[in-house]
Amino acid sequence: MPRQRRRLGRLVAGPAAAFGFAVAATVTPARADDAALGAKLFQAQCAVCHTTIPEYHKEGPSLAGVYGRRAGTAPFFTGYKSLKGSSVVWNDQTLDAWLADPRTFGDGKDTKMTVKIDDLAQRAALISYLRTLR
Ligand code: HEC
Repeated sequence: MPRQRRRLGRLVAGPAAAFGFAVAATVTPARADDAALGAKLFQAQCAVCHTTIPEYHKEGPSLAGVYGRRAGTAPFFTGYKSLKGSSVVWNDQTLDAWLADPRTFGDGKDTKMTVKIDDLAQRAALISYLRTLR
């Protein structure tokens, strides 16, 4: 009898492990969805001033490669104001603060980036998207 019970235990462990794997596997598609939403938000709210093509600038700098880079250093962009000479490096935290309100970021009073994103989930989606831009 004890032997049979042990075998049953093993049978139950199999599906449980498979379920654990299924849960872990859904994490990546969820992040991809985030970036897809971010891309839509970008088109609607940012593309008027920013491109994602390296060195193609509009009123704002190209955002190609922006994640992980020092603020205010897009090659050949001459329109920086508040970010000029900044020592900030763009990561999840600094981008979140910038997008929440460029005017209160550092000494950003005179920035020409007038848009701000109040919704935390939208900022997270935008940041996921910015992270994909190489
Ligand atoms: C009205 C034009 C305008 C809009 C709309 C705009 N930006 Fe900007 N953005 C700028 C300008 C100008 C700068 C440079 C800021 C400065 O130095 O004062 C900038 C800078 C940035 C930077 C830092 C770039 C770097 O090289 O350090 C990021 C990131 C950024 N914007 C993201 C966004 C996102 C995301 C959106 C949409 C939610 C957005 N911007 C909408 C004009 C704009």
